[in-house]
Amino acid sequence: MELMDARSVAGIVNLGGTVLRSSRCPEFREAEAREQAAANLREREIDGLIVIGGNGSLHGASKLSAQCSLPLIGIPKTIDNDVGGTDYALGFDTAVNTAIAAIDKIRDTATSHERLFLVEVMGRDRGFLALEVALACGAEGVLLPEVPTDIAALCEQLERCREAGKVSSIVVVAEGDDAGNAYEIASKISEQSGYDPRVSVLGYIQRGGAPSALDRVQGGLYGKAAVDALLAGETSKLVAKRKGHTALVDLELAWKESRELPSSLVELARILAS
Ligand code: F6P
Repeated sequence: MELMDARSVAGIVNLGGTVLRSSRCPEFREAEAREQAAANLREREIDGLIVIGGNGSLHGASKLSAQCSLPLIGIPKTIDNDVGGTDYALGFDTAVNTAIAAIDKIRDTATSHERLFLVEVMGRDRGFLALEVALACGAEGVLLPEVPTDIAALCEQLERCREAGKVSSIVVVAEGDDAGNAYEIASKISEQSGYDPRVSVLGYIQRGGAPSALDRVQGGLYGKAAVDALLAGETSKLVAKRKGHTALVDLELAWKESRELPSSLVELARILAS
């Protein structure tokens, strides 16, 4: 561990990833591993924690905080945007924009060669990323973990698009879709229709690169709110975005509250795809 000061974070606002090199740690599920972490913190006289991450990281941090009686504030951060208690998790907007830029390029081949493309985006359990990307790219279809996939209905929908004069089709597939990954879905489409779909898995390019303006500004707002909360003596709280404002909510909402996909966006995607 190295002691950091204000200058330690100079020149990083435009970087992706984490300068701390922190990442998921499966051992943290065991009480003994957390006890070791608690001992490390005590030894270095750390008197408060701000943990930035998704539901799993925040849940693990909360167990650590309880085990060593350390004040803890969480900051939501995952490109899946599925942390409960908040409308926004850092990284989502950047990932959406990265995927949009990639799909806009894929559209060139799709249109030039009148092809169907399946583009797989991340989203292990939830389809927030896939839905937003599909809407922003004018996709002809979107497959979400929350909505059971009907391959025959998808093929009919693509056929209607073709009959209506669309020369290319892009279907955005969330990696956690119930019909399988994009390659498996492509084979099912080939078996059931005359399509010969191409597949593009965007993968880890979605998790890197310069943060968008929204993520930079929201990161600053969340960071300040987390420090203010610790200094005010708060603990077990999540800094959150609620109805456009930064708020403090109970940390356990992060993993206990399930966020619903906005029904207006699901409906819009359906209309725009037809
Ligand atoms: O949880 C966020 C996420 O980006 C998921 O969408 C994706 O499945 C996962 O992380 C990939 O992480 P890992 O490389 O650790 O499997």
